[in-house]
Amino acid sequence: MMPPTPAQNGESPGSLAGRDADLQQMLTPEQRQQWQRDGYLVLPGFKPAAEVAAACARARALVEAFEPDASTSRFSTQDRSKLADAALLASAEQVRCFFEEEALDEAGRLRVPKAESINKIGHALHERDPVFTAFSHGPELAALARDLGLVQPQVWQSQIIFKQPRIGGVVDWHQDGSFFVTTPQTVTTFWFALEDATLDNGCLWVKPGGQRDALREQYVCDHATGTLSMRPLDRTPWPTTEGSVPLPAAAGTLVVFGGLLPHYSAPNRSARSRLAYTLHATCGTAAYAPENWLQRSPGFPVRGFL
Ligand code: FE2
Repeated sequence: MMPPTPAQNGESPGSLAGRDADLQQMLTPEQRQQWQRDGYLVLPGFKPAAEVAAACARARALVEAFEPDASTSRFSTQDRSKLADAALLASAEQVRCFFEEEALDEAGRLRVPKAESINKIGHALHERDPVFTAFSHGPELAALARDLGLVQPQVWQSQIIFKQPRIGGVVDWHQDGSFFVTTPQTVTTFWFALEDATLDNGCLWVKPGGQRDALREQYVCDHATGTLSMRPLDRTPWPTTEGSVPLPAAAGTLVVFGGLLPHYSAPNRSARSRLAYTLHATCGTAAYAPENWLQRSPGFPVRGFL
């Protein structure tokens, strides 16, 4: 599917240019340099405490309202085949809950309280949920996206990521560009700490400069059959924690990084949860790969931060 034109987004190129001119600069010259050099930025206090509290409360309310059933998916980056189901594909335009790998026993029964069993909620919170729609849009995010080089941004995906106490799973080294292939590569991740992320509860780790690596693999969807698979592209070894840096982040911090930057997060064996919220945006001027798992139907076009 080709990306919608600005007209399909309800925005003309002229009005976008006009809006961009009105947006304040969000990044200092030093931050722009660091973005170019390291491939990521950490922006403490990007979100005010009240917005963070509202997002946390809404996340917990979504879990409370969730009724597990037989169609519910477990989520594990250790075993991608578990993602290859209709629930993931349907979540492109919905708000769905996915379990932690260790939350269910052999018989599929919950081993922990429901509130601690959810791995993530996705993937259209930024369009379907009023609290997260407000959280995901606005002039600050639009200005930041512009400063990072995103042209006619298209926000494809939103996720609440729980990293539950004691059972929050590892997210292995990967590049987000694998999941949002565009030509040229443009996907950018916006990672918001909704609770303090620390070394103990599984904060992000990144490889500075890794944005110059090749894309190592591509997550491919055969939309005719609903089959999902990971296609190897490049043999560059994944980083390890040696030569990488942890990014502890207080609640309200925004971490941004490009689609080629390798990153990882450790399991959470601590007693504290590590709630985060992410958005993934591409340039509307780049070609969005038809093999990407997340596609939008014509009646639900992708749009930007405003
Ligand atoms: Fe990621």
